[in-house]
Amino acid sequence: MPDAKDREDLLTVGEIARRSGLAVSAIHFYEAKGLIHGMRDWRNQRRFSRRELRILALIKVAQRLGFTLEEIKDTFRDLPQKRVPSKSDWRKISQAWKEALQAKIELATTMRDQLNLCIGCGCLSLKDCPLRNPEDALSAQGPGAHLI
Ligand code: FES
Repeated sequence: MPDAKDREDLLTVGEIARRSGLAVSAIHFYEAKGLIHGMRDWRNQRRFSRRELRILALIKVAQRLGFTLEEIKDTFRDLPQKRVPSKSDWRKISQAWKEALQAKIELATTMRDQLNLCIGCGCLSLKDCPLRNPEDALSAQGPGAHLI
């Protein structure tokens, strides 16, 4: 429970929406998804700490980078719940996002190169098409049956 000073710093849903540049409905959406956390004040009204304002900024950056809400939620699991994320927290998150982005770039590059094989083909063969059967590890052993 926040102390008296903290309670003065709590924001209404309208205030946090205005300060984050988001719609009130977006605030409720992110709360329902478990990405931000509100609390009830003594009048039973919903309030948000300034930590949640920072979390909303992180969500917007992550979405610009192409991460899904589930991926964002996974990243936030290790964040402290009681304080605003620090520079050190941001360093860890941005490093994790950089590595995840690199993996996505490598996957997209591989798929683009595989798509080159498909242009003008249209077979969509389970046996031959790398996009139709991307897990075909046996194809690396050459054509024909390998498990008989
Ligand atoms: S469509 Fe023929 S190889 Fe992909």
